[in-house]
Amino acid sequence: MDIQCTDKEKSILATIARVAHELAVPCYLIGGFVRDKLIHRTTKDMDIVCMGDGIALAHAVANAFQPRPVVAFFKTFGTAQIKWEDLEIEFVGARKESYSHHSRKPEVAPGNIADDQNRRDFTINALAISLNQQDYGQLVDPFNGLQDLQDKIIRTPLEPARTFSDDPLRMMRAIRFAAQLGYTIVPETFDAIRNNVDRIGIVSQERITDELNKIMLCNRPSVGWDLLFRSGLLQKIFPQMVDLYGAAYIDGIGHKDNFYHTLQVLDNISVHTQDLWLRWAALLHDIGKPPTKKFEEGHGWTFHGHEVVGARMVPKIFARLKLPLNDRMKFVQKLVLLHLRPISLTKDNITDSALRRLLFDAGEDIDSLMMLCEADITSKNKVKVKRYLQNFEMVRERLQSVEDADRIRNWQPPITGEMIMTTFGLTPGRQVGIIKDAIREAILDGIIPNEYAAAHRFMLEKGAELNLRAVE
Ligand code: CTP
Repeated sequence: MDIQCTDKEKSILATIARVAHELAVPCYLIGGFVRDKLIHRTTKDMDIVCMGDGIALAHAVANAFQPRPVVAFFKTFGTAQIKWEDLEIEFVGARKESYSHHSRKPEVAPGNIADDQNRRDFTINALAISLNQQDYGQLVDPFNGLQDLQDKIIRTPLEPARTFSDDPLRMMRAIRFAAQLGYTIVPETFDAIRNNVDRIGIVSQERITDELNKIMLCNRPSVGWDLLFRSGLLQKIFPQMVDLYGAAYIDGIGHKDNFYHTLQVLDNISVHTQDLWLRWAALLHDIGKPPTKKFEEGHGWTFHGHEVVGARMVPKIFARLKLPLNDRMKFVQKLVLLHLRPISLTKDNITDSALRRLLFDAGEDIDSLMMLCEADITSKNKVKVKRYLQNFEMVRERLQSVEDADRIRNWQPPITGEMIMTTFGLTPGRQVGIIKDAIREAILDGIIPNEYAAAHRFMLEKGAELNLRAVE
């Protein structure tokens, strides 16, 4: 089977084959590497399965490389890993495996290649290539995985309920592969996901979120989120997202379906950025809509304050999903909070002061915020879309000219608290804060320029108002 390996990969595989032959251990290249090579995707993870001790084989293979790489191994799982240049090679002994109903702990026994292929998640991931002398390079494909790759379908090798029960994370993986590869999950497999969604409860949040992040990084992440929703998994793992679904009607007045609007925004932004966190911001930008939704007589549907409520929800959602609670969370939160502000700047009679305030609040993230706002345009009316985009272009231009003049986006106060204390002989306290805030507000309002001399004069005036006298 010609899987178009690089020369380096070919030589590594030949080495593994030679060492395995010397040990009299049959072995196969299997899983994602074979799949990805067959469909011409780049791949860096080689999985080797052997009929014997995977850890011993890894050590013997390591001995054959110069300089000898470190072998990381996990005795309990019988797996070992070698990093060689940019490749990660994993060795495992072929296993028969089944999981008890209440936990993820597998009961494992040694097996042959067929046993090992049986316990794999999807037919397209069960493809193996022999590294044995008698049939080197031959594809071992008991479940027609090659055909499934051609047909672009995802199905389990065994009865799907059994495969998902062995490891319920595979339900997420099916959806992730469908989104990543643009494949269809066959109805029998999809029905089994629907029927087993409760089992996702035994999977660790970290593994679930890994899959969510992989879905987020797809070209069209909406495909994955929609499948999560339609399978019922989303209800289990992220119910706040499901609350966005549906359009309510009162007196014949409806609002848009915020779930599919959100997915459209996510796809829109994904055309322009690979940044995972900007994509999360797009996914969460309207998350505050369900709890703020009201029908107001004469006005129709309103979602007042949804950006504030949404921003407050972000840390809780990040904590639940075990996403990092650090500056990345703060970035997402900031974008959710500010996502309506550029729209308010598209009206007439917008002052420079309003632009300066947005630059101050968004800081270095202003470009990301503008990108989110543009992605948020999901109208089907081409004329409207064109007008909204033109308006945002004007906002961008005005932001740029205000920034050129006042340098607000990377705000460093021209007068520090330290300087205020030295000038008036103060110790840290309320008065220092009052003067500092007053200087900042005066600059943002355009009363004084963002310069040391003007700010210094203003500080002296403000101090005098507070009956303070300069000591130097
Ligand atoms: N596998 C499985 N069930 C899982 C995880 C993995 O059967 N829950 C098997 C599949 O055969 C898979 C192989 O182990 O191809 C390697 O797993 P992994 O590296 O996690 O996935 P890949 O298929 O290589 O794809 P990706 O790297 O994109 O996750």
